[in-house]
Amino acid sequence: MASVTLEHVKKIYDNKVTAVHDFNLEIKDKEFVVFVGPSGCGKSTTLRMLAGLEDISEGTLKIGDRVVNDVEPKDRDIAMVFQNYALYPHITVYENMAFSLRLRKMDNEEIHRRVCQAAEILGITEYLGRKPKALSGGQRQRVAIGRAIVRDPAVFLMDEPLSNLDAKLRNQMRAEIIMLRKRVDTTFIYVTHDQTEAMTLGDRIVVMKDGYIMQVGSPQEVFDTPKNLFVAGFIGSPQMNFLKAKLVKEGSGYSVELLGVKIPLNADQNAALANNKVGTQEITLGVRPEHTSVLFDGKQNAIECSINVNEMMGSELHLHLSTVNNDSIIVRLPTVDLTQEQRKQLSYGNKMYITFPAKVMHLFDPKTEKNLIYG
Ligand SMILES: Nc1ncnc2c1ncn2[C@@H]1O[C@H](COP(=O)(O)OP(=O)(O)OP(=O)(O)O)[C@@H](O)[C@H]1O
Ligand SMILES: [Mg+2]
Repeated sequence: MASVTLEHVKKIYDNKVTAVHDFNLEIKDKEFVVFVGPSGCGKSTTLRMLAGLEDISEGTLKIGDRVVNDVEPKDRDIAMVFQNYALYPHITVYENMAFSLRLRKMDNEEIHRRVCQAAEILGITEYLGRKPKALSGGQRQRVAIGRAIVRDPAVFLMDEPLSNLDAKLRNQMRAEIIMLRKRVDTTFIYVTHDQTEAMTLGDRIVVMKDGYIMQVGSPQEVFDTPKNLFVAGFIGSPQMNFLKAKLVKEGSGYSVELLGVKIPLNADQNAALANNKVGTQEITLGVRPEHTSVLFDGKQNAIECSINVNEMMGSELHLHLSTVNNDSIIVRLPTVDLTQEQRKQLSYGNKMYITFPAKVMHLFDPKTEKNLIYG
């Protein structure tokens, strides 16, 4: 068990690439934190610095109260699980799991106890005598996790442990990691580029881009109140729609105008904007596909769109629309209440109207890309 603290941590590689800029984060004991962001944003670099596999160029890294910048990986009390499993092919599953314990000169009885217990937790007892090549991808990944569990580390580091698995197995292993976390009650730091994995696993998620932290918060916080355009677009699937619009201040109230429609903001939004001293300005309006409704009759104060693509997903339709300004919008529409007549109306080329309430609108400054309310 341990907290992990990064203070002004920076990584400059030998080729002068700054992979991580001024990373500040306090991870609490037993917290599950996920680093998420697109390829190359510095997730693995940060994790490798935590593991001691990469030098820290500047800043301080603490595990518990101890500064570990210069502590050898083996003395940090952490275990890391890699994307490619990194199992030894020539020895059995049992010996793969026992390997690090033997290096530590642990007695055989204790090694046996730990390997059997980890195998039990992961449901791989029957494979202990096999070599890794005789296992499926999911089974190998369990062995890799087992090898980390037996060490009973204070901190678990996982770098994209599920990315080599097919979609179904990935979902299953994701659920297993959630259960594992309950049984192995310790600090987890998990890296992924998959926002769904981040949302479902993390107590808190750290959204990264180009070596910078863009936002830290609970999954619900980053989803509901993204601080900037990047987080808004990265978290959520299909991605948030962005439209050119205008924020208009009239007296003490604000409204958003776009495509001939005017939507007055609610009291909380008005208060926040006034507090942030925002005036009338151009904005990028963000609205999630699931927060947009389709109007079949009447079109008062609704946005006219034409249908480009209608994707049937089973329980919902994903409608790809374009506005008269050629902005594109995706709408998620549950199918359960649609009539035959309505389904017919939703075909390619037809016109339709969409609307959304003020409370689901996210307002961004087009220049700074900051959220005008929460940024
Ligand atoms: N050993 C290295 N030497 C020089 N530059 C490196 C090295 N390793 C990584 N980088 C660079 O540092 C940046 C961050 O890389 P990193 O591997 O941390 O990204 P990542 O977020 O883990 O990406 P991915 O999702 O693709 O794994 C990238 O620009 C990468 O090219
Ligand atoms: Mg990586």
